[in-house]
Amino acid sequence: MDFNIVRNDFPTMRKGNGVYLDSACQSLRPDSVIRAITEYYEDYPSCGGRSVHSMATQVSMGIDESREKLASFFGTKNPDCYIFTKNCTEGINTVARGFGLKKDDVVVTSDTEHNSNHVPWLFLANKVGIKRRYSRSDANGEFDIESFKSCMSKDVKLVSIQHTGNVTGCVTPVKDITEIAHEYDARVMIDGSQAAPHFEVDLKDLDVDFYSMSIHKMCGPSGMGVLYGKEECLKDLEPLIVGGGTVGLATYDHVDLAPAPEKFEAGLQNYSGILGTKAALEYLEKVGLDNISAHDKELMRYIFDGIQDVKGIKVIGPSDPSKRSGVFSFNINGLGSHDVAMMLDNIDNIMVRSGMHCTHPFYVSRKIEGSVRASAYLYNNEEDITRFTTALKKVAETFGDH
Ligand SMILES: Cc1ncc(COP(=O)(O)O)c(C=O)c1O
Repeated sequence: MDFNIVRNDFPTMRKGNGVYLDSACQSLRPDSVIRAITEYYEDYPSCGGRSVHSMATQVSMGIDESREKLASFFGTKNPDCYIFTKNCTEGINTVARGFGLKKDDVVVTSDTEHNSNHVPWLFLANKVGIKRRYSRSDANGEFDIESFKSCMSKDVKLVSIQHTGNVTGCVTPVKDITEIAHEYDARVMIDGSQAAPHFEVDLKDLDVDFYSMSIHKMCGPSGMGVLYGKEECLKDLEPLIVGGGTVGLATYDHVDLAPAPEKFEAGLQNYSGILGTKAALEYLEKVGLDNISAHDKELMRYIFDGIQDVKGIKVIGPSDPSKRSGVFSFNINGLGSHDVAMMLDNIDNIMVRSGMHCTHPFYVSRKIEGSVRASAYLYNNEEDITRFTTALKKVAETFGDH
């Protein structure tokens, strides 16, 4: 795969709009995705699943095709197991609120979760009285399966763990976790927002019960997510919001909910987002998830080579670049993370993220005020990384403590 051609598919890259290293937040979009979005608005900006005129029929068919693409992309059969959401957070909340957890039911997460897979459970602990247990990561922030096993017991109803960390980039052994959880009759939900963009995820093979993801991190439109659930799990799950589009029939006193996925998709949907989702998945397939994954690792290696002589750098997470899926977090002695991020932008238009990356408990428990995060993706190249590490050297030498 020629990644120079890939880079050229992205208008932001063609325009030379700086060095974008904030893809763990949101990825850039290729021409084909932008085209799918604008085509919807220009050619058939209508609703789906309701009106029967020709424009609306085109939208309805597009929605079906997008779901079919999701099913084949993630190695499953039934397109109705995919629910369109506005982001990964909404998918996690749908499961948290709809699963029917009761007082003293136990939910297991890990100590490195994003707030989106932490706060919903905290909320349920306060409201309903569920109990929470955390699998503890090791000193590098890597998942520790022994710690996870020690959290499991018969009162665990749900395990909800990230597939890849947004601070360390480390990948969690989801298949092992799922096998263990199922031995205890617990269901498994995976926060796949940082995994699905970077490597092949086979949901049938992983055998997880729910998987939530962010399409806007996968070259797809802003404000798009998808929640996958096994057929039997979605049958038992209550929708987060109800109303138009979610019912079979409603009388003044009674409502029959429609089956999944409709019962979870209340009101008019983000149709351009749904159509753009299909285009994004087709694009990732065309490049190849294995190629993307290898490219990510190469970019991480360039970063680790380039920071060898950056003075006073403290890396968060493993020092082995092959353990990182596109994410590199660090601090420079004597400097706040926001200051470093602003200096990188000022020096050479390098765009990184700074702060606690919505992973507050991880930073607070380790007494770290925050970090800088450079996250790379398929459109970045060696030159981007050299510009980043060169600017970082300047920042560290000029302003850091060493
Ligand atoms: C690990 C992880 N989980 C959840 C989220 C939330 O994703 P979204 O903004 O799509 O809800 C993010 C976003 O950065 C993330 O990195």
